[in-house]
Amino acid sequence: MLPISFKDDIPALQNKYYFNYGGQGPLPNESLNAITTSWQEIQRLGPFTNDVWPYITKEVINTKNLLSEICGIHPKRIALTENVTTGCVLPLLGLPFFTGDHLLISDCEHPGIVAACKELARKKNLKIGILPLLELSNKNNHDDETYIAVLKLIDTNLQKNTKLVVISHLLWNTGQIMPIELIAKKLREHSSKPYLLVDAAQSFCHIPIKDACDKADIYAFTGHKWAYGPEGLGAVALSARVLEESNPTLIGWKSLKEEEGIYVNNKNPFHSDGRRFEIATSCIPLLAGLNSSLKMLRNEGSETERFLKIKNLSSILWEKLNQIKNIELVLNNAPPSGIISFSINGINSPEEVVTHLGQKKLWIRVLEDPKWLRACVHITTDITDIDNLVYALNDFITARKSF
Ligand SMILES: Cc1ncc(COP(=O)(O)O)c(C=O)c1O
Repeated sequence: MLPISFKDDIPALQNKYYFNYGGQGPLPNESLNAITTSWQEIQRLGPFTNDVWPYITKEVINTKNLLSEICGIHPKRIALTENVTTGCVLPLLGLPFFTGDHLLISDCEHPGIVAACKELARKKNLKIGILPLLELSNKNNHDDETYIAVLKLIDTNLQKNTKLVVISHLLWNTGQIMPIELIAKKLREHSSKPYLLVDAAQSFCHIPIKDACDKADIYAFTGHKWAYGPEGLGAVALSARVLEESNPTLIGWKSLKEEEGIYVNNKNPFHSDGRRFEIATSCIPLLAGLNSSLKMLRNEGSETERFLKIKNLSSILWEKLNQIKNIELVLNNAPPSGIISFSINGINSPEEVVTHLGQKKLWIRVLEDPKWLRACVHITTDITDIDNLVYALNDFITARKSF
């Protein structure tokens, strides 16, 4: 019997054409089984016995080691979280900001992170400035030109008292990649040495991340998007500076060096590594699921090989969409990543397109602002998926008499 392919092991990909990897990746059977097996093992050994603790400790260590390999940093710099948002927000809220400090946030950030920054600014009397990245989307999208333009915009928008820059590694709306190492270098050279918070929701297991992860102060990601992991488990990589300067904000027993120590007068009860941002009881079987998906991904090729495959597929989709009259692609050239956004001339409600395609078992999404349609391709996308999407869009557009 032939070994089952990665795609064939993913139930969600057997009955539909799936382009929402940036929203949530589908879970392979093998990872689902790893979660169930872990849950059974916890019940067999525990759930609350001396026999189960070594198992749980081993699962946590294995996961952090695997993530540290992917991120290219020491496992002590990693905190396990529930999702991208908590990875961004928990260390952010503990940083030392003072009245009047300036936070520079790109206009391509996810609403959850923007909301957290706004609330932080309200509470601490900080000022928010916007880094206008969206304007770069229809100019050019060759990485080098984008990088130069982004660095220029950062230069223009940094202020003397900027204390934080918030930017995604891979923009969820345009699919452009940001030069995180170069931005980090620029911020280190700036007089106020702003912290660099990077939303890595769309970059983890999609593009190479080691350098960015090492250089950012907060690099937060999740297992449930491009990594084909389960929802409910993410992680954040933290710089030595953040580990030293950010105080835990949502505090629980996991943040403590010694639980008993808290009852005596202990001035510094918190872990000095990533655990200072971990809180309390969490779902251990999810670790087995993420580990399994990460190992399966590794079997599909190196990080670079997988990224090249994604780029090749996205340029095929981009070329085909570019042939369809009335489709307006957001980027002018083949995209730098697996994210392709577009709009359709004459369509006021893009939700209608999603509903129409959904009826044909094709799944893309509408973004919030701008209301673009977004299709993501991943290593499990194939030419049949792409052709079906292109055909259905063409059909939908042709059926509109108003064009
Ligand atoms: C760029 C970006 N940031 C943050 C999030 C929120 O992710 P989570 O629900 O894991 O916090 C998403 C989810 O789509 C996203 O695309």
